[in-house]
Amino acid sequence: MTTCYINGNYRDILESKVSITDRGFQFSDGIYEVIAVYENRFVDIDLHLNRLIKSLNKLKIKINLKVNQIENISKKIKKLNNLNNGIIYIQITRGDQHPRDHKFQKGLKPNIIIYSIPKDFKKINSKAKRGVTTSLYPDIRWLRSDIKSISLLGNSMAANYAKEKKNHEAILYDKKNYITEGNSSSIWIIKNNKCITHPLNYRILKGCTRHKLISIVKRKKLKFVEKKFSIKALLSADEVFMTSATNFVMPIIKVDKHKISDGKPGQITLHLRDEFINQI
Ligand code: PDD
Repeated sequence: MTTCYINGNYRDILESKVSITDRGFQFSDGIYEVIAVYENRFVDIDLHLNRLIKSLNKLKIKINLKVNQIENISKKIKKLNNLNNGIIYIQITRGDQHPRDHKFQKGLKPNIIIYSIPKDFKKINSKAKRGVTTSLYPDIRWLRSDIKSISLLGNSMAANYAKEKKNHEAILYDKKNYITEGNSSSIWIIKNNKCITHPLNYRILKGCTRHKLISIVKRKKLKFVEKKFSIKALLSADEVFMTSATNFVMPIIKVDKHKISDGKPGQITLHLRDEFINQI
């Protein structure tokens, strides 16, 4: 049995229900977070909870739990589900509203759920040794990707396109052929020893793994720049990788039919992955 926290109670996840009047169900009016637990340790929980609060504030969703209470519930869920390796999933929607109306009423009671999913990080570690393949896909999402909203249809369509092509992730590009991010990751390239990733703005999520890796890159005295890069720059990069809570630093060896360099994981990328995991 998986135990889920739902609005103050701990229940079997399969028995846990919210109303069909939930604004998350009807309008995708809610936000979420994914926090990794790696070898029994939370990975960057402070960064994730900080971003959770920012997403709530951007949508003016008010909750009556403090950050440390959400942290304690997450720890309790980890314990109740004996989670050593996996993720903690947190979702907060604005709450139930009837009758349906785009305009939200004041004083709604948010629906808060927290549960865990086990994950085999050994498998992900061995995947990282080989590197993963990707598909390019147009970024058809809304223009507030900085909010970690549960409105994920664009991401999901991109991910399923990549899956159909037997690829691990879709890399999204905007109308001017600049790369924004992955369907659920931040995308990086390395060219002439310089690490490059999209600048922070409304088109991408402020990745916690991205944030952590920037400090590692700087500490390692590697060159780092936040700037937009084109599909052409992606394909001619020396190394390409993605970062996310579930993949950490994952080498990308192919984009559609195009091999990156010699088609093997880049050496700097693998070094950054090791450094990231050592820091956990
Ligand atoms: N996704 N960009 C998007 C669109 C994402 O969905 C994610 C993470 C990231 C990387 O953020 P972070 O490093 O904080 O995980 C970037 C999570 C893993 C998910 O939706 O499952």
